[in-house]
Amino acid sequence: MFKSETVQVWPETGPFLEQVEQHLGLALGLEKQYLVASRLQPIARARGMEDWRALLRSLSQSPVGELHWACFEAMTTQETRFFRDDFCFETLRHTVLPEVLERARSRRVLKVWSAGTSTGQEACSLAILLYDHFPEVRDWQVQIWATDICEQTLAQAQAARYSGQELDKGLSSEQKSRHFLIQPDGHFSLAPQLKRWIGVARHNLLDPVPETGFDLVLLRNVLIYFRANQKSQVLRCVHQSMSAAGASLILGASETIFEHDLFIQHKAARGGYFTRHDKFS
Ligand SMILES: C[S@@+](CC[C@H](N)C(=O)[O-])C[C@H]1O[C@@H](n2cnc3c(N)ncnc32)[C@H](O)[C@@H]1O
Repeated sequence: MFKSETVQVWPETGPFLEQVEQHLGLALGLEKQYLVASRLQPIARARGMEDWRALLRSLSQSPVGELHWACFEAMTTQETRFFRDDFCFETLRHTVLPEVLERARSRRVLKVWSAGTSTGQEACSLAILLYDHFPEVRDWQVQIWATDICEQTLAQAQAARYSGQELDKGLSSEQKSRHFLIQPDGHFSLAPQLKRWIGVARHNLLDPVPETGFDLVLLRNVLIYFRANQKSQVLRCVHQSMSAAGASLILGASETIFEHDLFIQHKAARGGYFTRHDKFS
């Protein structure tokens, strides 16, 4: 529940932020209530309502439906970039992927989940890393499942289409020319040899996972906004989705977890690197 000792509560926002936390896991706190106004105002205008307060009043009078979800999604933060936190990708390249591929070699199938992928740069970066540094997987069945709750970001992830400015955040000119095709409108599309590896789907991390057998899960910069109990709920689902003991989980650089019964933390590697605990194998 929200407390109002230090922050003045706008009457409409408390119940809405509680709903956001209940349905998405995002605990934004009342100090973020100014975001409600700025993010919901465009939705209110597009629906012909007077302002965001009128929108919130209308939400409070009906059961959770399509308009509620549009407003919940508007409260998410989509910040991402190619090879975000490059040292995480160094850890993937030198420590995590060699072990993951060793375990998957006899199957020649590699299953990765980019959970909370936003507009898909994380999934693309992993595909580039695999293609460039682990050429043996080019003949394998590689499946990178890129999911997010936000429909709008998923549309871009699905198209794997980026502006030159987006590409410049994190990719070298060589990576750009090797893996992207320029389109007539000046945007860039991920080349087919990598795009075929990536499947995009909408998934709420608070829901049970419809896919299993992942050798590697990237769950970076998503749980930072979650409260402990919901974070734990997500981690239990992620644990169940992983192929076997030793399957790998990467969190954001500064993120940690307390579910030591589920995952072993590898402190030597930079970035949040964990493996599924053996006792569940
Ligand atoms: C800050 S972005 C991180 C993107 C990428 N993982 C990275 O590190 O660059 C966080 C993403 O998590 C998504 N997200 C937030 N709550 C979610 C939930 N309950 N289920 C699925 N995705 C969620 C948001 O929509 C957003 O795209």
